[in-house]
Amino acid sequence: MNPRVLSGIQPTSDSFHIGNHLGALQNWVSMQSEFECFYFIADLHAITVEQDPAQLNQRTLLAYAQLVALGVDPKKSVLFVQSQVPEHAQLMWVMSCITGIGEANRMTQFKDKAAKGGSSSASVGLLTYPILQAADILLYQADAVPVGEDQRQHLELTRDLATRFNGRFGDTFTLPKPHIVKATAKIQDLQDPTAKMSKSSPSGCINLLDPLKTTEKKIKSAVTDSDSVVAFDPANKAGVSNLLTILSAYTGNTVDELVDSFAGRMYGDLKKETAGAVLAFAEPFQTTVNELLSDKAQLQRDMNIGAEQAREVASQTLAAVYAKIGFNAS
Ligand code: TYM
Repeated sequence: MNPRVLSGIQPTSDSFHIGNHLGALQNWVSMQSEFECFYFIADLHAITVEQDPAQLNQRTLLAYAQLVALGVDPKKSVLFVQSQVPEHAQLMWVMSCITGIGEANRMTQFKDKAAKGGSSSASVGLLTYPILQAADILLYQADAVPVGEDQRQHLELTRDLATRFNGRFGDTFTLPKPHIVKATAKIQDLQDPTAKMSKSSPSGCINLLDPLKTTEKKIKSAVTDSDSVVAFDPANKAGVSNLLTILSAYTGNTVDELVDSFAGRMYGDLKKETAGAVLAFAEPFQTTVNELLSDKAQLQRDMNIGAEQAREVASQTLAAVYAKIGFNAS
């Protein structure tokens, strides 16, 4: 049997951004040929912060369409919506009972998100979010989890919890490894290239579904530096290096080849070529997404099939877990 892969993405925006795409989703697509893949839209995670119900519903559909348009093929992979597979929440409860409060408190994403919203208003769900993520992964006995750098700590917690459970109750879970591709593991914000690109900073974030003119404008106003030499040096030339990383990812040229090609040329040329490469990807992507969204009933049917396939695997793991911890099976 092929090794298993699992990953998820939150439906918390009207578009995936190129950090999602280059850091994680392009690897989801390429891993389909070698692995048995389970990919899902993490709508349970999306309600850890306040959300609008109609918008969540719409964004979930949109996330599904975007994943298919990027090349996640529901015939090759199991593609599903998390809330349609109740085993995620069920296993999460079990895992939360072997997680220390201090352990959950140490998660840096929780600290960041709680600080942004004011820590007194942070929900218990936001605190326990990484335990749900561990349950997501362990349910499918995943060997590898393709994600960006920001998810590394959650993967470490997942491994710790799996090891603890296996130690207490006997071998049950596969220990998953993060699959993080260094070159694109952290795409930076265009306006503050020392920070990770994220939807919370709209002017520094390139959304795949943004109007093409907006994307072009954002790239052309990307922050660079007062030097004028195009060189790859993330520590000292974060903005230029980020643009080179993006250009390399969307053209297939290596960063070294690109640096050579920009010898004696200006930052304006780098921005122009980067914008051209991103738009060449975004334009046909947008067309495919719109085509898929024109038949929402079909998308919903495909989602239902994905959920059934996921449940076949998830229910087996949950049954094994319940038996191990001593719940009376029927
Ligand atoms: P999410 O929805 O925030 O992001 C989806 C994926 O995109 C990656 N990513 C980036 N990669 C590189 N550069 C960036 N600037 C950048 N921004 C985001 C993320 O690392 C992620 O891989 N907790 C997860 C969702 C999740 C999950 C899981 C992932 C829930 N359960 C189980 C893996 C396995 C999250 O919020 O990702």
